[in-house]
Amino acid sequence: MTPLTRAAIFLVVVVDPGGEAEQTVRDLITDLPALVRAVGFRDLDGWLSCVTGLSDNAWGRFAAGWARPAGLHPFREIRAGARHAVATAGDLLFHIRAARADLCFELATQIMARLRGAVTVADEVHGFRYFDARDLLGFVDGTENPTGGDAVDAAIIGADDPAFAGGSYVIVQKYLHDLVAWNAIPVERQEKIVGRTKLADIELRDDVKPSYAHNALTTIEVDGDEIDILRDNMPFGAPGSDEFGTYFIGYARDPATTELMLTNMFVGRPEGNYDRLLDVSRAVTGTLFFVPSAPVLDALGAGVVLTESDEPEPPDGTDPAAVQDGSLQIGSLRGEAQR
Ligand code: HEM
Repeated sequence: MTPLTRAAIFLVVVVDPGGEAEQTVRDLITDLPALVRAVGFRDLDGWLSCVTGLSDNAWGRFAAGWARPAGLHPFREIRAGARHAVATAGDLLFHIRAARADLCFELATQIMARLRGAVTVADEVHGFRYFDARDLLGFVDGTENPTGGDAVDAAIIGADDPAFAGGSYVIVQKYLHDLVAWNAIPVERQEKIVGRTKLADIELRDDVKPSYAHNALTTIEVDGDEIDILRDNMPFGAPGSDEFGTYFIGYARDPATTELMLTNMFVGRPEGNYDRLLDVSRAVTGTLFFVPSAPVLDALGAGVVLTESDEPEPPDGTDPAAVQDGSLQIGSLRGEAQR
């Protein structure tokens, strides 16, 4: 995916009970493109964007009477040995990205100014791009992401679910790393755990790469074809509190792909042959969201019930060129028109 932004904020909120809170959220959804335009216009090279996702629970509330996107369900937790992919609360995700942290900060501030009193914040993570797009384990993260048309194929729902074409599914997980334990592992073994060399970021050859390597377990093949997802992970942390993390965020046209990767990582492929990154990394959140296309999000904001007969037009976002500019052109990304 090009380009990865320098900064991101991942904001997950739970909507308070009651019709008033619901209306506040609908109004924000309606006004979000204008907010993104207003904040983004302050630096045209700032590439500000915001993707909005709704959880299964939020869909039931905000899209009552609508069909349900085929892949939308609560995040499925996984327990295996000492490993636990937890499921945590969250109705709405705002994935805010920009070249500058201040743009992300300002948009998050404007969103919260509108939502305060109507939501409870479940999680807020401020991510930053680290040297050479490395994670805090020291490995380059994002190399094998699909780009261009392949990114669209990986992330955007197509004719398989026509009412929701142009949307996406996104799974987020906040991981905390035990860096003391990780740094005690010799680099050669770390490289086997990740499946790539640390300094030069070259994939290990098949004859040296173990079957438990992270990039082996997250490679999914169906009938000889590799099925990708689109990741936009970000490091975050607070050295003073000994907090060092990776915020995992994976977009997929079908969340089953990401879920299979998670099963391979946590349970193992075959069972027991799990991802050793999890010996030093703990997932402390886990939520699945549906990201509606712009017309569907508009209808949600307006409180309109879409029936099968008045499905929205598939948005323009299925144009591969749209993804090359770093945006998925889904959800509230339509607010990026200022570029
Ligand atoms: C502790 C959290 C994680 C860290 C630090 C991490 C780090 C990395 C790194 C360093 C790479 C190699 C470079 C690259 O191609 O991007 C990678 C690849 C990859 N990761 Fe992760 N990752 C994490 C969690 C996840 C999760 C939860 C998933 C999916 C559910 C995932 C899916 C993938 C995929 C699909 C690849 C590319 C594999 C390939 O085709 O070579 N990662 N990750």
